[in-house]
Amino acid sequence: MIKLKSSIRDYYVHFEETAEFVGGFSSIPEHCYVVDQNVWRLYSDTLLKTIDPENVLLLQAEEERKSLETVLEVYNYLIKRSAKRNMTLISIGGGIIQDITGFACNTLYRGINWIFVPTTLLAQADSCIGSKTSLNYLHNKNLIGSFYPPSHVHIYTPFLATLENDYFFSGMGEVVKLAIVGGESTMQEMVDLLPAALERAPETLAACVNRSLAIKQGYIAGDEFDTGRRNMLNFGHCFGHALESTSNFQIPHGQAVVIGIMLANIVARERGLLSDNVCAFMLEKLLLPGLAVRPKSRDLDPGAVIAGMQKDKKRVGEGLALIMAKDLCEMVKVTDLKPSEVSRAIAEIRELFGVT
Ligand SMILES: NC(=O)c1ccc[n+]([C@@H]2O[C@H](COP(=O)([O-])OP(=O)(O)OC[C@H]3O[C@@H](n4cnc5c(N)ncnc54)[C@H](O)[C@@H]3O)[C@@H](O)[C@H]2O)c1
Ligand SMILES: [Zn+2]
Repeated sequence: MIKLKSSIRDYYVHFEETAEFVGGFSSIPEHCYVVDQNVWRLYSDTLLKTIDPENVLLLQAEEERKSLETVLEVYNYLIKRSAKRNMTLISIGGGIIQDITGFACNTLYRGINWIFVPTTLLAQADSCIGSKTSLNYLHNKNLIGSFYPPSHVHIYTPFLATLENDYFFSGMGEVVKLAIVGGESTMQEMVDLLPAALERAPETLAACVNRSLAIKQGYIAGDEFDTGRRNMLNFGHCFGHALESTSNFQIPHGQAVVIGIMLANIVARERGLLSDNVCAFMLEKLLLPGLAVRPKSRDLDPGAVIAGMQKDKKRVGEGLALIMAKDLCEMVKVTDLKPSEVSRAIAEIRELFGVT
């Protein structure tokens, strides 16, 4: 179990060895569920069989549904079930279900009790801690949001067996990122774990989830509201967000982050912050094995990537920002990245992937 500190309330992550914890929810007074439709289809007769279907609101996990309208649906469902502030919502699904239900629980009656059971690798290894809830608005991703942690997170890694490849690799991208920002020793550990993790060996995945959360916990401790050190968790994201948009979201988020790390590493190497050896080591041992997609020419258009980076909502000031890893995985953020450095790094990546 991990205990996390939050200004809202302290909360707990439980690593479950069996699915018995699901049965335990039945004894919570005034509780009900919001469950990802796919997860319900896959597990209502097995891992989730103790849940009364009458007590469940099913939601589709689609980016277009991560909206205020869906939050209203959740409010309506909850208000019909119980008009009491002491109710508990248990949500089961990936990051989309987390974001919708977290926001709804935060705002209904100014905060109701919320328990979250993450079922994707991204949600288990990354998003389930850190208190952020986000909704999309007017075609902008994560424009609306708040900070509100669940009171308990229950992690059961056997859910991951049924995850589609795209989502699995997207989660692996964040796992690899966390291993690098964790420091030299966690990066080395990840190099050893990666082959079995990519085979989805259950014990190895459990180890990856556990380690990723411990590393993320280290970064959010003392910076819950993301004004300083926590920013470093955006490693790979400065380029990654731009690549998601140049690829028209064909490159899944965590995979765009992996290519983003490759680009950031080239910039760091050219600036003399990262040695040739470490840059090549990360590429061969972590980044290429963790990449299931191959970028296309339009994804790597330097002008479009730079334009995408200029639009990043977290950007402050005039220059382009970039988070880089130095040797020993020490992280550094600069705000004077030059377009010529971006073009140089993209040219190298185009060559690596044989993009003409
Ligand atoms: N709040 C945060 O801190 C935070 C952090 C990172 C990402 N996010 C958000 O998370 C979202 C992405 O979440 P995600 O990658 O977890 O995926 P997701 O919620 O989009 O789910 C991906 C797909 O997998 C299905 N699925 C879920 N669990 C499954 C299982 N066990 N087996 C088979 N299929 C399953 C879903 O139905 C869906 O089709 C994005 O909207 C992103 O903005 C939030
Ligand atoms: Zn991310």
